Amino acid sequence: MEFRLKIKRYDSLQSQSYFQDFIVDEPLDATITSVLTRLNERRPLMDAEGTMVKFIDWECSCKQKMCGACAMIINGIPRLACSTFLEDLCKEGQQNVVVQLEPLSKFPVIRDLRVDRSQMFEDMKKMKIWLNSDAVVNNKELEHQYESATCIMCGCCLEVCTNYSLNNSFVGASVMNGAYRVATQQRQGSNRKQFIRENVKNGQGHCSKSLSCEKVCPMNIPVGALTSKMNRLYIKGLFTK
Ligand code: SF4
Ligand code: SF4
Ligand code: FES
Repeated sequence: MEFRLKIKRYDSLQSQSYFQDFIVDEPLDATITSVLTRLNERRPLMDAEGTMVKFIDWECSCKQKMCGACAMIINGIPRLACSTFLEDLCKEGQQNVVVQLEPLSKFPVIRDLRVDRSQMFEDMKKMKIWLNSDAVVNNKELEHQYESATCIMCGCCLEVCTNYSLNNSFVGASVMNGAYRVATQQRQGSNRKQFIRENVKNGQGHCSKSLSCEKVCPMNIPVGALTSKMNRLYIKGLFTK
């Protein structure tokens, strides 16, 4: 099926963005990662006006929804390029189809569709999202812990979160999920109370519970439920030694 692929491009970190169009003919069961791969295989790469242009910079690794690297804004919605099919965006026989790709806007753009997600990992370090000893097994929490552990750090949740920006201390859903998991696996009497307090202060406490993050999360992580559980742990901690 023929369609117009509109890509928001940046030549470098601080450059102005511009859109470039390409005419593409791909089957409806093609993913956006395969569309981009085949586009970059063209020699030379010409835009829709027939001008020779530079290859598109974008990122992917697993191509099976496991690494989060291919997250980008596709037709206005943050999604994984490797699990977004053309048939998710248009119907057979539809005319004048436009598919628009943009880099995630909450992170610095390195070039074209490739962004620097390192802030998410810095926030994990800042909030100490790790265990210092063996995990405590709590059967009641296992299901939610498993859901939380499926986070692939793609950053789609941060894109739609009005409270998250690189300039404030709110860490957003990706780190909040990890904090819940660590809090429910830590031993009592370790620094658990302090861990919960700090994480609620920079996470759950700033979350306005709009749950837009849940709607776009490719792993369907129940951010709202995990946030409530973390808040409950915090309140409980206020009344116990
Ligand atoms: S919570 Fe979901 S959307 Fe956010 S980083 Fe993890 S997998 Fe991606
Ligand atoms: S529910 Fe919280 S983390 Fe999710 S989008 Fe809203 S403010 Fe952000
Ligand atoms: S390439 Fe790994 S999630 Fe898409």
